[in-house]
Amino acid sequence: MIKNISVIGTGYLGATHAACMAELGFDVVGVDVDPEKIEHLSRGDLPFHEPGLPELIRRHVDSGRLCFTTDLESVGGWADVHFIAVGTPQQAGGTGADLTYVDTAAVSLAQAITKDSLIVGKSTVPVGTARRLSSLIAEESRDDVSVSLAWNPEFLREGFAVEDTLRPDRLVVGVGSEADEAVLREVYAEALSRETPWVSTDFETAELVKVAANAFLATKISFINAFSEVTETVGGDIRTLADAIGHDTRIGRKFLNAGVGFGGGCLPKDIRALQTRVSELGLDHTMTFLNEMDQINLRRRERVVTLSEQILGDLAGRRIAVLGVTFKPLSDDVRDSPGLDVANRLFNAGADVFVYDPEGNANAAKRFPRLGYVDSLAEAARDADLVVLTTEWNEFKALTPADLEDVVAARNFLDARHVLDAGQWESAGWTFAQLGRMF
Ligand code: UGA
Repeated sequence: MIKNISVIGTGYLGATHAACMAELGFDVVGVDVDPEKIEHLSRGDLPFHEPGLPELIRRHVDSGRLCFTTDLESVGGWADVHFIAVGTPQQAGGTGADLTYVDTAAVSLAQAITKDSLIVGKSTVPVGTARRLSSLIAEESRDDVSVSLAWNPEFLREGFAVEDTLRPDRLVVGVGSEADEAVLREVYAEALSRETPWVSTDFETAELVKVAANAFLATKISFINAFSEVTETVGGDIRTLADAIGHDTRIGRKFLNAGVGFGGGCLPKDIRALQTRVSELGLDHTMTFLNEMDQINLRRRERVVTLSEQILGDLAGRRIAVLGVTFKPLSDDVRDSPGLDVANRLFNAGADVFVYDPEGNANAAKRFPRLGYVDSLAEAARDADLVVLTTEWNEFKALTPADLEDVVAARNFLDARHVLDAGQWESAGWTFAQLGRMF
């Protein structure tokens, strides 16, 4: 019977996974090399914003089912299952995935394990990694214990991490044996009891499912944004277009929201890492379309600058409020954030940029300290020549012209997420531009 679980890496994915495994009734130890992180997590203090997660961690630290340590050795003889949930960031100066952390975690674990156990990779990796690690683990582990590897990609979204982990749309496991699959079925028994689709397959398919899902989502977003470029030129309504094609159940309406495009720590890096991997495999031609998706995505950011110039003329010395610098709402993550990139581009074009984000100011300020950061929407918009909405937080979606008309210097608004009602703003006398709409 599976009782004890370790989770190696307590970043976004690992901290969520550890807390959710405790919620399912397992005894869980989260392991990380960073002592400060461990100390904070033990108190339920997260270094990132994720709704519901701090409460879940505190509850299970208090219940005694969850603890955190830097001591990897201590879990080697204790856990039945070890999850590897370390990061695979984009390589510094390259486009491939940096596998240093995954490799180190697998080797250190293999060396520390003193009882029969299963290592389960959750990190997003280039195809071929699991098979390579499987051999490495066999070489590095003791001869008197049986240690095997499975790959179990994660599909959680930031902002919904707990919900997605506890109630996933599907579970995918790449396994080398029926016995390993049986262990994972036991770990995920609760989800299986709700008839969650269970996909048991080989390593390569499991690894590819993950990047294929993210590549598909990125493609959907860039697809609608390519049509935005057309409607911006010829007229037409991009939202109606998305609704209309989305009614076709083969297409579906989700991820067809036109706007300033995708960002974050996953979609952009994953499509680049996938192209790099297929290129290594001599299969460049298969994924060249992803380069196009990336370009469409980045063009959206420049379009915001062009539209701003169209509204204001020269941007030098003009005061611009940027609303939202996290890559999406319900997150404080500014990695590859379209909103933050836009703010920086406007700044580089000479504008005085004032940023307000409900959660992201601190992280954004670390990246681009020269922008102005303020604590409220009203402060950002005060005396602004132009207000740009870049992340669709509820607070911004609820904005009406009356909220801002006595605050701004000029009634100019650019809705880069296409979430406001253009007619309402125009009839209140605003110059109102929107991505996806002719201006
Ligand atoms: C994404 C995937 O959705 C998860 O399934 C996956 O597990 C995760 O990456 C990962 O690989 O770890 P996440 O990065 O949290 O999750 O964010 P998404 O909700 O996918 O949004 C990504 C970006 O696309 C955001 O910048 C968002 O604003 C943008 N987006 C999304 C659009 O521009 N339009 C849409 O219609 C949807």
